[in-house]
Amino acid sequence: MTVHASDTASEAASHAAPADLVARRIPGHSLEAPFYTSDAFFRLDVDAVFARSWIFAAAEAELPEPGDYITLTVGAYSVIVVRDDDEEVRAFHNVCRHRGTRILNDERGSVGNIVCGYHHWTYGVDGTLLHAESQPPDFDRSCFGLRSVHVRTVAGLVFLSLAAEPPADFGEFASRVEPYLAPHNLARAKVAKQIDLVEHGNWKLAMENNRECYHCAGHPELQRCYFPLYNFTENEVPPGMRATFERFQKADAEARATFESLGLPYAAIEELVERPTGFRIEREPLDLAGESFTPDGKAAVRRLLADFPTARLGHLGLHLQPNAWFHFSADHAVLFSVVPLAADRTLVRTTWLVHADAEEGIDYDLDTLTGVWVATNEQDAVFVSRAQLGVSSPAYAPGLYSPTESQVESFVTWYITRLTAHLEGP
Ligand code: FES
Ligand code: FE
Repeated sequence: MTVHASDTASEAASHAAPADLVARRIPGHSLEAPFYTSDAFFRLDVDAVFARSWIFAAAEAELPEPGDYITLTVGAYSVIVVRDDDEEVRAFHNVCRHRGTRILNDERGSVGNIVCGYHHWTYGVDGTLLHAESQPPDFDRSCFGLRSVHVRTVAGLVFLSLAAEPPADFGEFASRVEPYLAPHNLARAKVAKQIDLVEHGNWKLAMENNRECYHCAGHPELQRCYFPLYNFTENEVPPGMRATFERFQKADAEARATFESLGLPYAAIEELVERPTGFRIEREPLDLAGESFTPDGKAAVRRLLADFPTARLGHLGLHLQPNAWFHFSADHAVLFSVVPLAADRTLVRTTWLVHADAEEGIDYDLDTLTGVWVATNEQDAVFVSRAQLGVSSPAYAPGLYSPTESQVESFVTWYITRLTAHLEGP
């Protein structure tokens, strides 16, 4: 019988300990199969990545009023993110301080107080225990408030960290991206639409898919309004994309002049690997009318997010490790977050924000606003599910990244660094 090298590699990988697989990862190559398929890596990813990093949780616009909350489930963790009576965003473990019951069981809602349904311990939206029936006179309620989770808001976006000591670089991340985000007025926006899509693939396949446009020929709707030139240098542009590249160069020169005249920061900052809160941000032109992610590139929302003198502002793109990416245009913002559900299932949540006073049917048509990314997400879900099927085959062996997949390499290197740090311990 002939034994092929790939059979041997796959067989060996399926028996290797996670620490060995982490240690032997070959730069420039996709990961070995168990990273995408095994329950051991699913648990490790929750512990080493999602419970240790800053993760994007929600838009402030999802919590417009005091008492509005969302719950976010990551592995065994459940977190309540709620706006308190002072209008601050707070986060708490969704675990009752009596006997531990999960308190809020809906994905979102609005409460006066946070009440556990089991024995009705009642907490304020600031987490303090207000009421617990039938306790002895010396019962000290102040010792039984909800356990808080670190939470920060940046220009209308909510981030949380489950770590006891979250990465200290978040403040620097926030101060660097805030000038880019602030002009878009996200804290004053409203949610026009939110769609949860469960992809049949590992969360890293969903992130890797986001970090390259090598596959963008599979996104005809997106390709019309978006320059699919991701990470190509001039010399690397394939011959078939030469005309697109030339159109991009012209649009880019015009866009830069506009950004400068309006004082909008646009230069790329790329620190995807070096820091725990890895990110990339850049403002770039869009194709066609250059205003928005729509079939003709024109703004989908008549009422812009801010008092911009033109809608032709392209898009501000933000990529964040480990679980989010964003596009901000003059008329709307679209936010994407990824949450692992199981080794082979991932929640991809897409949220469209528009000006708080924009009215559906008058200022915007929902299908025009969401159509490009709805189609793109569905196409990506197919790519991710097929990738999961492929890496699950005994014939799979890690493949080589192209230069245009450099952000995939950055994501994977960042991820391996986080796992290595976790496995080596404090
Ligand atoms: Fe929540 Fe008893 S477990 S009140
Ligand atoms: Fe895609």
